Amino acid sequence: MTPDLMEEGTKRMQAYARRQAERTASGGRSASFGRLLKVGEPDFTHGVALYLEDITVSFDGFKALNALSLTVNVGELRCIIGPNGAGKTTMMDCITGKTRPDAGRAFFGSTIDLLRLTEPEIAQIGIGRKFQKPTVYEELSVFENLELALAADRRARASLLSRLSGAQLDRIGEVLTLIHLRAEAQRTAGLLSHGQKQWLEIGMLLMQDPKLLLLDEPVAGMTDEETERTAELFLSLEGQHSLVVVEHDMKFVELLTQGHKKVTVLHEGSVLAEGRLADVQANDKVVEVYLGR
Ligand SMILES: Nc1ncnc2c1ncn2[C@@H]1O[C@H](COP(=O)(O)OP(=O)(O)OP(=O)(O)O)[C@@H](O)[C@H]1O
Ligand SMILES: [Mg+2]
Repeated sequence: MTPDLMEEGTKRMQAYARRQAERTASGGRSASFGRLLKVGEPDFTHGVALYLEDITVSFDGFKALNALSLTVNVGELRCIIGPNGAGKTTMMDCITGKTRPDAGRAFFGSTIDLLRLTEPEIAQIGIGRKFQKPTVYEELSVFENLELALAADRRARASLLSRLSGAQLDRIGEVLTLIHLRAEAQRTAGLLSHGQKQWLEIGMLLMQDPKLLLLDEPVAGMTDEETERTAELFLSLEGQHSLVVVEHDMKFVELLTQGHKKVTVLHEGSVLAEGRLADVQANDKVVEVYLGR
């Protein structure tokens, strides 16, 4: 490419980023619009965080995902509901590289082809995943768990503990506040309640500052109060991160969608319905396969 073409391209990208930024509530700052990209960095200037097209996964001939297509926007909080076996967890397995689909396309931002990356590479570029069972270091304190999460590479962990920078300490402080565990910072993680362990694990994900967070049944086993606090936490992350939340707890989904956000219903490996929670709950097909059981 010639220098003037490159300059022209840069100008066009900056103008595009400015236009996009004007369209978002945060002025786009939190979604990282309006700055130039480094090579290999995901490109979110088109406003799309995750794009799945016709993803199919078969296990011994049974299609766990069947031409599943889904788009999640930058900064969006999307709830996915659907009956047991609908393919919700399998979808997350495909996004994170744990399962390779037989067919279809999966992009992070508009340029990163997820199907070409390994599981660690996908975590590295900014996709964080929370499994249902909390996996924290039980014998370490809450603070130490967050500290360790700063270094994705286990080998770097040993040398990290003795030399935290001011910015890293600040980030741990911010995350402790976000996950409601500031008062528990020195507590041994194994002594936390189930809900607190879940928050700690979310905090550990946040230490890596992922652009996209995948959360599989995050409030399973939580008390009502913990569930409400988790909804507040996710709502505070919306905008700065894109979130895909799989849940069966309709009260929680209601809190997250606040009556207007789009919900996706999966059934037999594809999208059965999409729309506001109240609308999909009134959808005959959805009632038949899921809610009416
Ligand atoms: N590794 C595997 N081998 C064979 N079948 C599998 C495998 N993983 C998932 N399945 C099947 O694929 C289908 C989708 O499973 P998946 O776990 O994605 O559903 P789900 O929507 O997450 O359900 P739940 O709400 O119960 O968590 C199920 O029928 C399941 O038995
Ligand atoms: Mg599941």
